[in-house]
Amino acid sequence: MYLKKLKLENFRNYENEEIELINGINLFLGFNAQGKTNIIEALYVCSFGKSYRTLKDNELIMFNKEYCNIALEYEKNNMENVTNFYIDNLNRKQIKNNEVKIKKIADYVGEIPIVIFSPESLDVVKGSPSKRRNFVDMICCQLSKSYIIYHQEYMKCLKMKNNLLKNDHIDDNYMHVLHEKMSVYIKRIVEFRKDIIEKLNKFAVNIQKSITEDKEEINLIYNTDFLNMNEEDIKKYLDEHLYIDKLRKSSIKGIQRDDIEIYINGQEVSKYGSQGQKRTSLLTLKLANFELLKEEKNEIPILLLDDIMSELDSKRINFLLKYIQNYQSIITTTEDTFVKNIDNIKISKVSNGRLEK
Ligand SMILES: Nc1ncnc2c1ncn2[C@@H]1O[C@H](COP(=O)(O)OP(=O)(O)O)[C@@H](O)[C@H]1O
Ligand SMILES: [Mg+2]
Repeated sequence: MYLKKLKLENFRNYENEEIELINGINLFLGFNAQGKTNIIEALYVCSFGKSYRTLKDNELIMFNKEYCNIALEYEKNNMENVTNFYIDNLNRKQIKNNEVKIKKIADYVGEIPIVIFSPESLDVVKGSPSKRRNFVDMICCQLSKSYIIYHQEYMKCLKMKNNLLKNDHIDDNYMHVLHEKMSVYIKRIVEFRKDIIEKLNKFAVNIQKSITEDKEEINLIYNTDFLNMNEEDIKKYLDEHLYIDKLRKSSIKGIQRDDIEIYINGQEVSKYGSQGQKRTSLLTLKLANFELLKEEKNEIPILLLDDIMSELDSKRINFLLKYIQNYQSIITTTEDTFVKNIDNIKISKVSNGRLEK
């Protein structure tokens, strides 16, 4: 599959713009605050039905406008498709795929598989466990509708539990019923995460080796309390820890505490890795993410690379450019010195919400 055209109407600083994309490298060049990341964000919104930069959908609407519209045309299985995203000032949101309204987002996510890589992605390697969970969850969500639903249902239960834990009097029986429900979701989410992390690991090992000329061995380890537990064990475990939950007034056990540890040659990268190793392992993880989606979906994902060239040295840039040369990518950058001897590239200048031809 590949993306053909992005039409933006009142989206961020784009009043009315049509962006033609090629099935190759699409490079958007421009100074800061001109609207490069906004293009990446619009593509993300068409894939996930929401932004990664804000929780408030209506921030996407151009200042002083009533609504915004995005249309993304793409080719898939030799068919022309279009996804429309609409949001207005009253927060009325509508997503349509080929003119059919999407009622549940779980029915749609995964239709346009993407991998996004931005300077903030470094948090996956350096930041808190939640960043690594998000990284893995984003893959799981693109691969499984049931995963999205289990995750949503689990989060609803967790919210309910945390609200109850704020009370002085807590009904243990009610909590046990809630735990029983949660254990069903935990089991499925843990199984799915485990499988995805193992598959990611397989790809990552090879990629890390080729970037580092066999010097570095990467290893991803899934850290959860619930590995290989059945629903009964999980429920029991949650029940047993309820007394601590009550003391702390919040849930201390659950998949919202899972982590993915990243090791290079046996040492944990977040603690002992050099800057260079952190950047290499992130590049590896993103390319492993790409390979995994490609294999599982039997379709080539779209690579969104937002302002990362400045973060990588020339060796890693060359590796990346060689890697992506046969795929579709959307790359934003403030300088294009790395563009040399590259085929199948389209360069567009971005200036104040407009594309210069
Ligand atoms: N809702 C909005 N309406 C109009 N302009 C916006 C809106 N949100 C952001 N902008 C503008 O978009 C620009 C930032 O765009 P961005 O794509 O992040 O820049 P960059 O080219 O540095 O990646 C800023 O000038 C900002 O004022
Ligand atoms: Mg930017």
